[in-house]
Amino acid sequence: PRTVTRADSGALTVGGVDVREIARQHGTPVYVLDEADFRARCREFAAAFSDCDVYYAGKAFICKAIVRIVAEEGLFLDVCSGGELAVALAAGFPPERLGFHGNNKSVAELTRAVEAGVGRIIVDSFDEIERLTAIARERGVRPSVLIRVTVGVEAHTHEFIATAHEDQKFGFSLAGGAALAAALKIIDEDALELRGLHSHIGSQIFDTGGFEVSARRVVELQARIRDARGVELPELDLGGGFGIAYTSQDDPAEPGDLAKRLRKIVEDECNLAGLAVPQVSIEPGRAIVGPAMFTLYEVGTVKDVDGIRSYVSVDGGMSDNIRTALYDASYSATVANRASNATPMLARVVGKHCEAGDIVVKDEFLPADVRPGDLLAVPGTGAYCRSMASNYNHVPRPSVVAVTEGATRVIVRRETEDDLLALDMG
Ligand code: LLP
Repeated sequence: PRTVTRADSGALTVGGVDVREIARQHGTPVYVLDEADFRARCREFAAAFSDCDVYYAGKAFICKAIVRIVAEEGLFLDVCSGGELAVALAAGFPPERLGFHGNNKSVAELTRAVEAGVGRIIVDSFDEIERLTAIARERGVRPSVLIRVTVGVEAHTHEFIATAHEDQKFGFSLAGGAALAAALKIIDEDALELRGLHSHIGSQIFDTGGFEVSARRVVELQARIRDARGVELPELDLGGGFGIAYTSQDDPAEPGDLAKRLRKIVEDECNLAGLAVPQVSIEPGRAIVGPAMFTLYEVGTVKDVDGIRSYVSVDGGMSDNIRTALYDASYSATVANRASNATPMLARVVGKHCEAGDIVVKDEFLPADVRPGDLLAVPGTGAYCRSMASNYNHVPRPSVVAVTEGATRVIVRRETEDDLLALDMG
C-alpha cells in the first residue's frame, strides 16, 4: 500500500502505525488494510472511468466495512452469491446499485435479489432465465437483466487467444448462437427487462487486447439484436480482470489508459454498427483491493536446506493465501520489524500446514539474519486471500485490521478455536 514507509527504527509503518504495534495489538497472521489506499484506488477508477459505472467486484474481498467505503466512494457493487448479497444488504448498500452474478443462482437467491430490488441480475443460462421469469411473473415485477456472453476470447496474463468456442461453464456462447437466442427469448417473453450484454474474459490480465476483441464482439451482437428485433440495448458491461503488480516484474496498465482504450473501441464499434454508444460498466475487484492490503506474519523457524535455499516458516500459509499453491502465483516478502544489512539469501516463505505445497512466497531474497520472532510482510494480499481462506488443519482464519491516520480498527475479527468447535456437533 501507498502509506507504507520505513521509520527511523527500521520498522515499517502503515497509515502512521508501526507494524510491531499492529502485531502486538492484533496478533499474527493478520491482513492489514490501508484504508486511505483502498479509497484512493476506488477514486482512481471512478475518475478514470468517469463516463462508466464502476462495480467493485466483492468476490475479491467483501465485508461490511468495505461495502460502506465502496458506497461512500460512489461505486456500484457486484456480488456473486447469496452470502455476498447478504453482506451488501446488511451494510445498507443501496440495492439498486448492486449487480448479481453467478452461473448457478438458486431460486432462493434469485427471489431474495428480486425482493431486495437488486439493480441488475446478470443471467447466465436458459434455466436461470426460466427461473427468474417465474419469480418475476409471480411478483408482478420486471427485473433488469444483462446477458453474460462468452465471447470466445481466452485471456492469459500476457496474451490472449481467440477461440471459436469456449469450453467452460460461464455464460451464453456467442459463436454457438446461444447468446443471441437468449436475448431474443428475453425480449419476446417480455417478463424481464433486457438492459444489455456482459462479458468477462478472465482475471489478472495485462494485455488489454483481449478486452478490445471482447468489446468488439459484444457490440456486434448488440447490432444483431437490433437487426432482429429493432431493440437497441442501453448498457454494456466489460467485466473485470485488470492485472496488478505482485512483484517488481509485473507492469499493469494505468486505469486512465485502460479507460481511454476501452472507450475508443466501444465508440468506434458502435459508430461502425450505427448504434448509439451504450452506458458502459466495468467490474474491477483485484485492481482496487489487491494492492491495498498486506499480510503480516511472524517467523517461527528458519531452516537452511543443503545450501540450496532457506525455508522461512511463518504462522499462517495456504489457509490464508491459497493463491501460490493453487495458481503458482508470485508474491514478495520483506522483513517488517527492523532493517537489516545482512547479506541477502535465497529464501522460500512457507506456512505451517501439513503439506509441501504450502508455500506463500516461492523465491525471495531475505536478509541472512532473518530469525524467529521477526515479522514478515507479504504485499498485495487484498484480493482473493481472505475471501478464499480456509480452516485447513483447523487453523482459525486471521483478522482483517484497517489502518487509517494512525489508528487501527478490526473490520473482520480473528476466528477462534471455539468458533471452529462451535460447528462441530459432537
Ligand atoms: N466480474 C466477473 C463476472 C468475474 O467473474 C470476476 C472475477 C470479476 C468481475 C473480478 O475480477 P478481478 O477484477 O478481480 O480480476 N480467485 C482467482 C480470481 C478469480 C476471479 C473470478 N472472477 C485469483 O485468485 O486469481
